[in-house]
Formats: sequence, C-alpha cells, structure tokens
Amino acid sequence: MQLYRKFWLEKNLFMSLIVLGEPPSLANQFLNEIRGKDSQQDRLRFRRNLERMGEIMAYEISKRLSYKACLVTSPLASIKSRELISQPILVTVLRAGLPYFQGFLNYFDQADAGFIGAYRKEDGEELTINLEYLASPMVEGQEVILIDPMLATGKSFIRSINALLSHGKPAHIHLASLIASPEGIQHIKENLKIPFTIWTFSVDEKLDNRFYIVPGLGDAGDMSFGTKL
Ligand code: URA
Repeated sequence: MQLYRKFWLEKNLFMSLIVLGEPPSLANQFLNEIRGKDSQQDRLRFRRNLERMGEIMAYEISKRLSYKACLVTSPLASIKSRELISQPILVTVLRAGLPYFQGFLNYFDQADAGFIGAYRKEDGEELTINLEYLASPMVEGQEVILIDPMLATGKSFIRSINALLSHGKPAHIHLASLIASPEGIQHIKENLKIPFTIWTFSVDEKLDNRFYIVPGLGDAGDMSFGTKL
C-alpha cells in the first residue's frame, strides 16, 4: 500500500500524518460498509469491519517498527529471517475503540495492552473529555499505539496521552484512527509534545456543531454496541 504522507518538524519534534486510503484497496471497501447508513446497521459486520481495518493498520504500522536478525529452522533447513525486537504497547479508549483494538491485538498478538475510560461531555458550545479510568503498563521508552477510531476534536487523544504520561514517556506514539478531521489533526499538532505519527484511512471534511466528523460514520460506539443512557 503506497501511503499519502506528510511530515512536519516543529520545535525539533518529529511528527507525521499517514493516510492509508490512497491508493484505493480493500480497506476502502470495508470503510464504505462502515460508513454506509444501511450497511452499518448490521452490528456484527460493523464490528468485524472495524476489526479488519485494525488488522490492516497494524500491518502498516509494523513496517515502521524495529526488527532483529533471527534464524528459523524448518523441517528441511534453516533460514535467516527477521523478527520484531519488541511488541508495541497497545492502548485503547473505551468503549468505541474495542473492535478496532481487537484487530491490532490479532496481529500484535503478544502485546501488553492498556485501557482508558474516557467520554465526551457536550457543554453548550464546548466539548470536554472526562477521563475516569486508566489501566496501563509502563510505557517509558516504548513504541505505543493509541487506538481510537474517530479523531474528531483530538481532545480525547490529548487527554488520554496526558494521563498515559504518568506511566512514563513513550519513545514514539502512533495515533491509530480510522477517520480523522482536519480540526482534530490541527489540535494534535498544537498540543502533543512527544514524537508522534497520526495514522488514518481518511481525512474527512469537517466537524459539525456537535463535534461529530462529517461525513464520518455517526457514533462508532453506538453502532458497535447500541445507544447508551
Ligand atoms: N465519536 C464518534 O463516534 N463519531 C464522531 O464523529 C466523533 C466522535
């Protein structure tokens, strides 16, 4: 998959944006089904498509990780190969992140994982993020993949990372979204002070007045699990 990629170097901080939706691949077809107002009604398919997208993104991110030489012995002979030096730490935001996270876990199948309980609160024209739960391993010096399908305002990513920093400073943080908004990308650029890469399949048009991504897909948590009180 050839990637649309943008790099910035601001205040000596390495950051990049990688959009996996170009050139088109099967991922676009899965994303079409996730977005489509009729096709997304099939909850099992919606979750499974998110999981498949997570698998695709995990594979793409794996190309950026570090490998070491190893020797593999088949029943017939040995061959020199390469293997991951260490698995990244996977962290996801409850609850919308879960099916997408499962795709990453399928591929990084020995990874340590962390979980963050965060939810958005609309307060008139303001949106605040309440964070009430964090269970994570130490992340000091590690490659961390923070998995949340919708990069809308970017506030929940920043809030989650700030909480995660109490468990150490990652060497690099991969922000794994499915769909991103231009406003959210800008917010991350302005507020994240450690090296990072934003990964997404699509940068959509904008946020609406309720801070949902347009066209987006609606509410990812509701489509996966039903509406909550
Ligand atoms: N969360 C969602 O589920 N959808 C959006 O568009 C934004 C945040």
